[in-house]
Amino acid sequence: MLKTCFDKDFLWGGAIAASQADGGWREGGKGTSTQDCRWLDGSWTHEQVEEKHQNNPFSRAEFEAALGDEGTEYYPFRRGIDFYHHYREDIDLFAEMGLKLFRTSICWSRIFPNGDDPTPNDEGIAWYRDVFSRCHAHGIKVFATMLHYDIPVNLVLKYGGWKSRKTIDLFARYVETIVTEFRGLVDFWLPFNEFNAGRFSPWDGVCLIKDVEGEDFDQSIFQCLHHEFVANALAVRIVHEKSPETPVGGMIARFCTYPATCKPEDNLQSIHDDQYANWFYTDVMARGSYPAYMDRYFDKLGIQVWVEPDDKELIAQNTVDFLAFSYYFSQISTTDQDWAKTSGNLVMANKNPYLSTSEWGWQMDPIGLRITLNQMWDRYQLPLYIAENGLGTSDTLNPDGTVHDDYRIDYLRRHIQCLKEAVIDGVDVRGYMVWGFIDVVACGPLTMDKRYGLIYVDLDNAGNGSAKRYRKDSFYWYQKAISSNGENLE
Ligand code: BG6
Repeated sequence: MLKTCFDKDFLWGGAIAASQADGGWREGGKGTSTQDCRWLDGSWTHEQVEEKHQNNPFSRAEFEAALGDEGTEYYPFRRGIDFYHHYREDIDLFAEMGLKLFRTSICWSRIFPNGDDPTPNDEGIAWYRDVFSRCHAHGIKVFATMLHYDIPVNLVLKYGGWKSRKTIDLFARYVETIVTEFRGLVDFWLPFNEFNAGRFSPWDGVCLIKDVEGEDFDQSIFQCLHHEFVANALAVRIVHEKSPETPVGGMIARFCTYPATCKPEDNLQSIHDDQYANWFYTDVMARGSYPAYMDRYFDKLGIQVWVEPDDKELIAQNTVDFLAFSYYFSQISTTDQDWAKTSGNLVMANKNPYLSTSEWGWQMDPIGLRITLNQMWDRYQLPLYIAENGLGTSDTLNPDGTVHDDYRIDYLRRHIQCLKEAVIDGVDVRGYMVWGFIDVVACGPLTMDKRYGLIYVDLDNAGNGSAKRYRKDSFYWYQKAISSNGENLE
């Protein structure tokens, strides 16, 4: 029968991540994470930030300097929005908004400060238990990411991070701890944020810096990714064994891709781009094996992934229960090397002349969300969750505490309308999470001025401000959208 509205238990949500929100970097026994090392000069102009972000997001010199610096001045992720101390009032605000699903990540180095400690950090466990319990007390379900880019830095220094199989074992121990400790408090488990990040943003995804002389960087990336696939399969197995009632899923940053023209070459390019940037990752996690098209790709790049005898079986037997993705923009594929470019999420994208771009150059395309949902449902027939969607742009806080963000409301409205169309198309999509629904430090540029929130946080790029929270116009808009179950988008 034709569906004409969202199911009554559709989950309207919001998402953040530990490194971008929590702060509290030397509190509660937390160790240093890889994201605590990313550096920004808070006095830089927008152009300086963009230039740094596009050209060299993270260097060995910055990494080494960060390890010797205990301060927070140049390290926005050490400050976040201080959710570590504000979480009680923040969760009250989430409840006032009517949120049904809260996505955040658990910081591995808050649970095992060095990653290889003999026992977990009780204070870290207690903090998360309080956060999740408070959500439940307000009737908000918890969607927890086990790893959103931030691994304990000690694992990189001591073992080489995801280059080593030791990190797989330690990740499995971390997973076993959190799944056991938070059973009944977490409603959805997601082992890895944006699995494909290892390829398009190696420090975030697989903790690699491109600077080791003689190293075949592509080879290292795909070896690390293989270790993450093994770790993902172990995490799925652990959740199924220790908390069988909790679904566990896989996620990518979905780059919706269209051919630039109807030239067969562009169409073929589009198929390949989609395979290498998107399908590869969800195929492994949902279908349980490396797709054949990757053989040709690996052959072309001269890559040989080292696979241990039991890996294939482990991956085959531990596929995910649902799929999730972040969706911000679409891009186009062409064989024309001179095609005009624009920015995308940690990547440069070919420009689509039919789309407008955000202040940060991302191509806004609500229909691409509907297309993506249809494509993913057709291919996998697994429940889908939109783990991230939203508009990152600057806002003005008025003297009376208001923020008139009609541009954000417009962006969200158009995406939710297309989401509803996908529901009518027959796609089994069960949840929608607005990214950074409370302003957080942006992941790419490391700034506060690229805001996604429905709640404004009074902090600037250098961490100055009261950290007070203000309801934007979009807060009230989403509140109505949620209470009408997606029917009232005016
Ligand atoms: C996703 C990440 O890639 O995009 C988030 O999972 C990130 O961590 C989001 O914040 C938006 O990107 P940015 O760079 O605008 O913060």
